[in-house]
Amino acid sequence: MSMREVFEQNPDRRYIMYGGKGGLGKTTFSAATAYWLAKQGMKVLVFSVDPQASLSDIFKRDIFGKGPVEIMPNLFAQEIDADQRIKEYQEEIRQKIRDMYGMTEIPEEIENYIQAAAAEPAMEESAIFDEVVDIVGSGNYDYYIYDLVPLGHALYYLSMASVYDQWIDKITALRTEMEEYSQVAAVMQRKKESEEDRILKELQFIKHRINVSSSILTDKQKTAFFFVVTPEEMIILDTKKAAGLFAKFDVPLAGYIVNRVIPPELAGQNIPAYLRNRMEMQTTYLKEIDQVFSGEVLARIPEFERDITGLPMIERMANVMFGGK
Ligand SMILES: Nc1ncnc2c1ncn2[C@@H]1O[C@H](COP(=O)(O)OP(=O)(O)O)[C@@H](O)[C@H]1O
Ligand SMILES: [Mg+2]
Repeated sequence: MSMREVFEQNPDRRYIMYGGKGGLGKTTFSAATAYWLAKQGMKVLVFSVDPQASLSDIFKRDIFGKGPVEIMPNLFAQEIDADQRIKEYQEEIRQKIRDMYGMTEIPEEIENYIQAAAAEPAMEESAIFDEVVDIVGSGNYDYYIYDLVPLGHALYYLSMASVYDQWIDKITALRTEMEEYSQVAAVMQRKKESEEDRILKELQFIKHRINVSSSILTDKQKTAFFFVVTPEEMIILDTKKAAGLFAKFDVPLAGYIVNRVIPPELAGQNIPAYLRNRMEMQTTYLKEIDQVFSGEVLARIPEFERDITGLPMIERMANVMFGGK
């Protein structure tokens, strides 16, 4: 199967992701896929959940923190500004405190606490996560292309979802248990119950939001997750491991794309021994890739003569990936 066939035969797969280690070509393939789909007349959003995002680089446009920016007809790109989102959270908290206690200014001690909480790494994760849920939940586009961080937030969301599942089970069990005593200690009970209810409600809300994201990831009908691999020993090993992890979380894999293949037609030319050696090495690993991921390799993408930035280069990449003029 080719990349084009995967898309044509699965028109319901509207969430597209490329996974793999850093520097292998995830952002490049995300942008080229977005470009190709937009040219097909689909309305596409490619967005980055990476704090060190590089969509701005590849499109040669400063899009950071500006919401969805139109790159060309049908193609929108967005880089999430997690810091901005955290600032909004902080302001929300301040407002709540002002309203609750009728204050005009936030006491220094509390302000210090708000500042310290924002510096927690979990805050950034949570801010990015919230933004992703908002974007995907908006439903304004035909296709959503996630430009992922190296190992893929995917796994993070999935593991979060199962943790919340366990919490909610526990709390539900606790409530059921308490109900059994409810006639014995009605007054005490009511207070406890309402507290548990509040926590339960809050958890269910968070879980629902996480499920929006993680159910998309595990939904073979809606999602295509591709792995990017290069013909190198360590990368093949890493990819095998990652694929195993994904299988454990039931993330369906759409296939593998091999990137940075030295064009085979060079072999017939007068090339230096250095390049010939590198090509031989690649030949060995390309065979291994075909064996290990047999039947699931969708494309071999050549190493271009320069990096992929700007729409003309992205178009060339899209043509190689999906076949074109
Ligand atoms: N086939 C290719 N030929 C030439 N340069 C490539 C190719 N694929 C990726 N690159 C370049 O390699 C660098 C890393 O690619 P990128 O897509 O940013 O990787 P990732 O998002 O996986 O970290 C970029 O500068 C990109 O332009
Ligand atoms: Mg990237």
